[in-house]
Amino acid sequence: MKKMWSCRIILFTFLLTVFEQQVASTQDQCLVCHEAIEDKNAALFKGDVHFANGLTCASCHGGDATKEDAEESMSKNAGFMGVPSGNAISSVCSNCHSSATVMVKKYNSLLPLDQMSSLTSSVHGESSTKGGQRIAQCTSCHGAHGIVSKNNRSSSVHPLNVPATCAKCHSSAQYLRDYNPALPVDQLDKYRTSVHGKQNAKGDASVAECASCHGSHDILPAADVRSRVYATTLPKTCGSCHSNTNLMRKYALPSDQLEKYSRSVHGIALLEKKDLGAPACNDCHGNHGAVPPGVESISRVCGTCHALNAELFSASPHKKAFDQRKLPECETCHSHHDVVAATDKLLGVGKGAVCAWCHTPEKAPKGFEVARTMRLLVDSLQASENHAVLRVEEAEQKGMEVGEARFKLREIRQARLESRTNVHSFNESQFREVAERGLAVSTVVSEEATQAIDQYYFRRWGLLIASLIITSLAISLYAFIRRIEKQQASRARS
Ligand code: HEC
Ligand code: HEC
Ligand code: HEC
Ligand code: HEC
Ligand code: HEC
Ligand code: HEC
Ligand code: HEC
Ligand code: HEC
Ligand code: HEC
Ligand code: HEC
Ligand code: HEC
Repeated sequence: MKKMWSCRIILFTFLLTVFEQQVASTQDQCLVCHEAIEDKNAALFKGDVHFANGLTCASCHGGDATKEDAEESMSKNAGFMGVPSGNAISSVCSNCHSSATVMVKKYNSLLPLDQMSSLTSSVHGESSTKGGQRIAQCTSCHGAHGIVSKNNRSSSVHPLNVPATCAKCHSSAQYLRDYNPALPVDQLDKYRTSVHGKQNAKGDASVAECASCHGSHDILPAADVRSRVYATTLPKTCGSCHSNTNLMRKYALPSDQLEKYSRSVHGIALLEKKDLGAPACNDCHGNHGAVPPGVESISRVCGTCHALNAELFSASPHKKAFDQRKLPECETCHSHHDVVAATDKLLGVGKGAVCAWCHTPEKAPKGFEVARTMRLLVDSLQASENHAVLRVEEAEQKGMEVGEARFKLREIRQARLESRTNVHSFNESQFREVAERGLAVSTVVSEEATQAIDQYYFRRWGLLIASLIITSLAISLYAFIRRIEKQQASRARS
């Protein structure tokens, strides 16, 4: 029995030695030796996605990974290149990552193949201050050893780690000074104050991080029209998450912001008319500190562009009334994502008028009266402007000189626009002053145009009478000539 056992042990040890030798000959000798000399790169590499795919140290550094001898394996003849630097770093990576033959055929990988071409044309592909090399190489964001899939929590480009990876450079004033001293270095700090940044720090990988808004390999300057954060493209970038109903449901958030915004007066101005003065999502929410503006700051947000409206509102009776009731200043009447063009329909106490939401003859009656008066004034101003325009046009068609009246029409229009803004004073006399100025001018213009038209008719009658006289004169002249001719003819015959 004992003999049997020792036989088995001898056989087992023999097989084990053979197996070990077999393994050794296919093992990465670079790794073996570098592990032995306690090179930290070797330790990192054992957790690397490249190691898992059978790559060796020589796949990037060159050399002969089957040789145990240091000199042999790291000889120039075997293609050893030492430590790559500058653009040579990215070339090492793109030798595989840009090649379908390598990635698809050899490794059966489905990864995109555009990292190098994207990086080259991105802002990070520009020349670094070191000269002759790009600002960022693949390893600036990915590291060189210990690279893992982007879905792995320990990857430097995992959504939870991206902010720190970008901030290595972007939070360093000293580093960026050489490139562009005007470029802010507060993105990470601000980001950490945003809803996105707070959730990201708590481990939520679904919120926006730097790469979700800027891209990764194809990042462009914010002012470049092709950039994902350029005003006309930004709403779509935010919408990539905020229009995703399934994602937003998890946070109990609506997913209609982009849709509403696109239909709003602002969305149409920016996205269709390319009016860069109209707000994109970030003008109201901030770039990096994206939060919904609080009740008290909404008017400040709107007021950055609509300064006059905000000023009037602040001095109006609504200011205190709205603050007490915690009503947002502009949003209460105009909403926020679906702000539509303001029309006179909003004003007054009829159907569609916002004032009637709160003011009735019983409830807050003073406002009810004022709203009704304002609407009456606005309507009469509009009607008298229409009348003046028609009169001026008629006079013009009749060839009368109306340059002066045309000029005054602009004054009426101006008063009408001003009165719409002055609604926000919610003060009858202030409003009346502007509206009545417009009414006065339009009365004058209508009168002047009417006079011109009257003059035209006066001239027309004059012309008619004159031509009647001329015609009858011509007829009698003709008859007179005929008579003379006849007399001459009869005289000649006799
Ligand atoms: C028998 C041991 C041994 C083997 C095998 C070996 N190396 Fe090395 N390697 C070293 C030592 C020792 C150094 C020098 C370390 C130092 O200078 O601090 C070194 C240095 C390096 C360096 C840094 C060179 C520099 O210029 O700083 C790289 C890169 C490297 N080895 C890669 C490789 C690769 C790739 C292979 C396989 C093709 C390999 N090594 C095989 C022992 C080895
Ligand atoms: C995916 C490509 C890749 C693989 C595989 C790789 N390296 Fe590197 N290694 C690089 C690059 C690129 C650098 C240049 C430094 C940098 O940009 O971080 C580098 C730098 C080094 C350095 C010098 C860095 C220092 O700390 O001074 C050593 C040593 C080194 N590698 C050893 C190894 C060893 C040993 C292995 C295998 C265990 C290995 N590398 C595998 C790409 C690779
Ligand atoms: C010899 C070819 C080769 C070289 C050289 C190479 N890689 Fe890779 N790389 C691969 C393969 C193969 C994979 C795994 C593909 C897969 O999982 O589909 C990979 C995976 C990756 C991944 C993980 C992608 C993901 O999220 O799943 C990153 C990141 C990466 N490589 C970056 C680099 C960088 C940076 C360099 C240069 C320092 C480099 N690679 C050099 C072949 C290479
Ligand atoms: C400015 C930082 C940065 C640089 C430079 C960079 N990457 Fe990336 N890379 C990222 C980020 C962030 C991601 C993850 C997000 C994504 O997939 O877009 C990523 C993802 C990847 C992936 C996985 C792609 C996928 O779709 O699954 C690969 C492969 C990769 N990078 C390779 C490279 C190579 C090769 C280079 C050099 C040519 C490079 N990267 C340069 C930031 C960078
Ligand atoms: C190696 C350092 C480095 C890393 C890492 C890096 N950047 Fe940059 N980035 C720069 C430099 C330098 C500039 C160019 C500044 C200039 O010339 O205006 C720049 C420019 C930019 C710009 C354009 C700024 C503008 O002019 O509007 C954006 C956006 C940007 N980076 C975002 C990112 C993001 C997002 C990441 C992470 C995925 C990242 N960067 C990682 C160094 C870096
Ligand atoms: C929610 C989307 C979003 C996120 C997340 C985001 N950015 Fe931005 N980023 C923007 C917008 C929008 C702009 C400004 C566009 C403009 O000026 O019109 C911008 C501008 C920049 C600029 C140009 C300089 C400046 O500050 O105006 C840099 C650099 C930059 N971002 C880097 C980063 C970095 C680094 C991170 C991660 C810490 C990050 N961004 C996260 C949307 C974002
Ligand atoms: C990668 C996906 C993603 C992108 C891109 C994105 N967001 Fe978000 N955002 C989220 C998620 C998820 C939340 C919910 C976080 C929570 O409530 O915990 C959120 C929350 C917000 C909130 C706070 C909502 C609230 O009331 O809590 C605002 C405001 C916001 N985002 C604005 C923006 C703006 C503006 C942009 C574009 C500049 C943008 N987001 C881009 C995913 C994204
Ligand atoms: C004109 C200013 C303005 C613009 C433009 C704007 N928002 Fe808002 N947004 C607001 C205000 C104000 C609130 C706060 C609503 C409240 O709390 O009553 C808000 C709230 C939000 C919220 C919180 C949830 C909700 O719907 O109330 C998200 C998410 C959001 N906005 C995303 C966006 C996105 C994405 C865009 C671009 C497509 C955008 N916003 C454009 C002003 C704006
Ligand atoms: C970045 C500047 C900007 C911000 C911020 C902004 N707006 Fe505007 N807004 C505009 C511009 C420009 C137009 C004119 C669009 C057009 O008609 O072409 C406009 C149009 C309007 C109109 C229609 C005006 C009309 O004549 O019919 C209303 C109402 C309005 N905005 C309300 C708001 C409210 C409420 C907010 C805050 C929640 C706000 N705006 C924030 C720039 C801004
Ligand atoms: C109580 C309701 C109400 C509030 C609050 C309100 N508005 Fe208005 N707003 C109106 C009405 C009504 C009109 C339309 C007047 C008309 O066309 O006759 C209007 C018209 C406008 C117009 C177009 C006329 C113009 O001035 O060019 C803008 C822009 C505007 N509002 C912005 C704002 C801003 C910004 C705020 C916040 C400071 C605000 N509104 C608060 C009721 C309101
Ligand atoms: C969201 C509700 C709300 C809307 C909409 C609203 N108001 Fe008011 N308004 C109030 C409140 C509350 C007061 C405070 C005085 C009160 O309680 O009677 C007030 C006061 C006023 C006052 C001052 C009355 C006084 O007692 O001196 C005027 C004028 C006024 N509103 C006009 C308007 C006009 C015009 C509109 C439409 C463009 C309008 N309001 C829309 C709630 C509203």
